[in-house]
Amino acid sequence: MKALKIAIDISKIAFAGAVIVFSSTAGAQQPNSTTDVTVARGEYLARAGDCIACHTAPEGKVFAGGRAMPTPFGTIYTSNITPDPETGIGKWTADGFYKTLHEGRFPDGGLIYPAMPFASYTKVTREDSDAIFAYLRSIEPVVRKNTPHELQFPYNNRSLILGWRTLFFSEGQFKPDVSKSEEWNRGAYLVEGLGHCGMCHTPINALGGNSESQAFQGGLIPMQDWYAPSLTSNKEAGLGDWSIQEISDLLQKGISDRGAVYGPMADVVYNSLQYLTDEDTRAMAVYLKGIAQDEPDPVVSRLPDAENSLLVSLGKSVYDKHCSSCHGINGEGRPPHYPILAGNQSIQMDSAVNAIRMVLNGGYPPGTFGNPMPHGMPPFSVTLSDDEVAAVVSYIRTAWGNTGKPVSASEANKLRSATLQ
Ligand code: HEC
Ligand code: HEC
Ligand code: HEC
Repeated sequence: MKALKIAIDISKIAFAGAVIVFSSTAGAQQPNSTTDVTVARGEYLARAGDCIACHTAPEGKVFAGGRAMPTPFGTIYTSNITPDPETGIGKWTADGFYKTLHEGRFPDGGLIYPAMPFASYTKVTREDSDAIFAYLRSIEPVVRKNTPHELQFPYNNRSLILGWRTLFFSEGQFKPDVSKSEEWNRGAYLVEGLGHCGMCHTPINALGGNSESQAFQGGLIPMQDWYAPSLTSNKEAGLGDWSIQEISDLLQKGISDRGAVYGPMADVVYNSLQYLTDEDTRAMAVYLKGIAQDEPDPVVSRLPDAENSLLVSLGKSVYDKHCSSCHGINGEGRPPHYPILAGNQSIQMDSAVNAIRMVLNGGYPPGTFGNPMPHGMPPFSVTLSDDEVAAVVSYIRTAWGNTGKPVSASEANKLRSATLQ
């Protein structure tokens, strides 16, 4: 069967500027220090798991669910996970909650759609699950009935999830690799487990599942038209030749001397990664650097030379006029605020989707504790024609020693209409 892959446009989350207040003292429980410590740890772990991004609707109450997740199979709505006894998880036990994270089943055994990233959360320890549960019990209960999913036949039949599970789900807690350092293992636990980075960064096969043998090899996120690059290939977002400091900056601040985050990744940093401690961020950086490898150069099918040089010369004039003020005449940027484009892997990847979208829509890195006043990029969808967008993107992908492929005006046009919806 086809399965469900996250396709939530988290980039539309309207948290900008809002202060999200977590009440860790609500509830009738007598505060005692062990509980307080567990609740605080649970809050931190819920941040690492980015539960808030999916379980909060735009303008909805925190953790009250109702966020629509469009998928190729219909729309799934996230659940209310506040402690309201009737509409939330107020009557759940810690066992039932662990069953959800670990087995992808409701407390009564019913199957959960894999739009809830239990395929990653299965790695979470029982202790961490209990802490998250304690935290969720301590927040303000919200009365909001779960919205029924709007899935097409046959995907509305939960028993079909069994097929998906057989193919793509292996239950099991994280097992440390004893040949690696404690720090590496902590990073692996966060990236593979709570961080559910694979949900976007592992390619989706024809059955809509992530395949473990291709873990973190990158893929286009369906319904969103953003490409989540490979974290294992230094030709994409593989971080093999980045310093630990540069990786930590990217994850925690959203900007670095090597590049900035944008699109769905900006939301991950905004809602989750910026809250992580320096130690945990560093551990993730150590792990990510470790999984990145050099790969042979891809076979590049270039446009015919004459056509190519026309495109590139138009591209250069667009670039000099509209882009060089921030990114530098030689693509040198002004890091960390204005990304360097010369040698920047993320604009040379096979998929040019992200670079085209950035030029059309512009964007801001997220506002974070480490970078509270981000510098943005204006949209060029009105100023530049499809030909000009294609030309300037082809230019930045091939100038200054960059080795990306040129792109066509029809690719620019496709994304222009996709992103205007
Ligand atoms: C990528 C989006 C996404 C993220 C991130 C996410 N969830 Fe979910 N979650 C869902 C969806 C969708 C459902 C509904 C699934 C269904 O109906 O089968 C769900 C269901 C649940 C349920 C079942 C509640 C019920 O009564 O239906 C619980 C409990 C839950 N999530 C907890 C969490 C926790 C804790 C985290 C963070 C560690 C988390 N979720 C992160 C998407 C997400
Ligand atoms: C909701 C989907 C999604 C999730 C979840 C996600 N990413 Fe990403 N990530 C993306 C997209 C899309 C991009 C491309 C945009 C960009 O480069 O900022 C990206 C880019 C990146 C980059 C490259 C940034 C650069 O400038 O070269 C790194 C590194 C990265 N992600 C790491 C992670 C890690 C680690 C996690 C888990 C904690 C994670 N991502 C979770 C979607 C996601
Ligand atoms: C006012 C300054 C400014 C101008 C002008 C500008 N940019 Fe940007 N650009 C930025 C900033 C800031 C970012 C980071 C945005 C983010 O992270 O959301 C960025 C990001 C990008 C990225 C993504 C880089 C990466 O790491 O993947 C590309 C590609 C890009 N710009 C290309 C262009 C092109 C092409 C033009 C001209 C058509 C242009 N920019 C004009 C400021 C600018």
